[in-house]
Amino acid sequence: MSDLNEASSQDFGRAIDALRTELGRDLVIVGHHYQADDIVAHVDHTGDSLELARMIEGIKARHIVFCGVHFMAESARLLAAADQAVYLPVLEARCTMSDTTPAPLLEAMMTRLKSTGRRIVPLAYVNTSLAVKAVVGRHGGAVCTSANAPTMLKWALDQGDAVLFLPDHNLGNNTADQLGLPPERRHILNIRQGGNQVDMEAVGKAALLLWPGCCPIHAVFKPDMADKARRLHPGARVIVHPECTPEMVGAADAAGSTSFIIRQAQAAPEGSTLVVGTEINLVRRLTARHAGRVEVLPLAVSACCSNMTKIRPAALWRTLRAIREGAAQPLQIDQAQAGPAREALTRMLQQCA
Ligand code: 13P
Ligand code: SF4
Repeated sequence: MSDLNEASSQDFGRAIDALRTELGRDLVIVGHHYQADDIVAHVDHTGDSLELARMIEGIKARHIVFCGVHFMAESARLLAAADQAVYLPVLEARCTMSDTTPAPLLEAMMTRLKSTGRRIVPLAYVNTSLAVKAVVGRHGGAVCTSANAPTMLKWALDQGDAVLFLPDHNLGNNTADQLGLPPERRHILNIRQGGNQVDMEAVGKAALLLWPGCCPIHAVFKPDMADKARRLHPGARVIVHPECTPEMVGAADAAGSTSFIIRQAQAAPEGSTLVVGTEINLVRRLTARHAGRVEVLPLAVSACCSNMTKIRPAALWRTLRAIREGAAQPLQIDQAQAGPAREALTRMLQQCA
């Protein structure tokens, strides 16, 4: 394209299509379900975190462009072959929740928790940096996603005396509820002042220690929204993502991962109404996909992940053009962290084959 300032989203769309044709089998574009429609239109595969992680090893293309947030592209880099390159079109597309857990603080916390003599097994939600996954791998822990959190929490509880679940205390509490682990056996850690404020007595008793992070996007959903939706749409089912608060999950008819929500919409009976509490780009896509058969409504329109939507068609086009010109910068990861991080990720993929 000659004049970038004048280019419209449609121009970028056509230019992306042309580059995809040119790059052919050397290129695969994958994208998370929270990507905007004008990006999803160009991806070869969409998926949730677990599906995307599983699919990387089956991709043979030399160039993998990842439309999502930084930790997802890092996991793809970790799982891709050495002769493949992984690109994230906008490096600043980061997960806010993932950024609440710096690896040095986690390392200090693990040392402190283990000083009790208890065997503490870390279980990291996939929404964490490579450096955090490496700490988790070194301490014998594993990764989980929202789709397999119950399986992985059960696995982790069987490995030691207690589990440190991070960074999302909402997902941790919701998963513990599913497994029937009573609230009095859980403890949310105080991570202030480098971990100096931790209540060691509580740590000595708890079976589940929770990092105090959460997703600001899913935190917008409140139980009264479910009440209002049911008043306005009698008979509607409310389903939400397990990153919502336990109160919100308790007020919903069901909670589950992104892929669970997609399946629920597919399986909903004709003429029914589904009110969905998760990221708005996915909800809008479900609304369009099922229009005329099932009414899919958002629980709140404000739940937009501004990091996911940093990937715009212009950025995707720039990345593809750079690949064609041999000038693209593949995502680099610290090789010292890659080994233990891969161990943590592989433990999950083995448990949930
Ligand atoms: P999924 O694991 O359901 O794909 O969710 C990832 C995520 O970032 C949700 O906010
Ligand atoms: Fe992270 Fe929340 Fe965005 Fe998911 S929706 S990528 S958890 S900030």
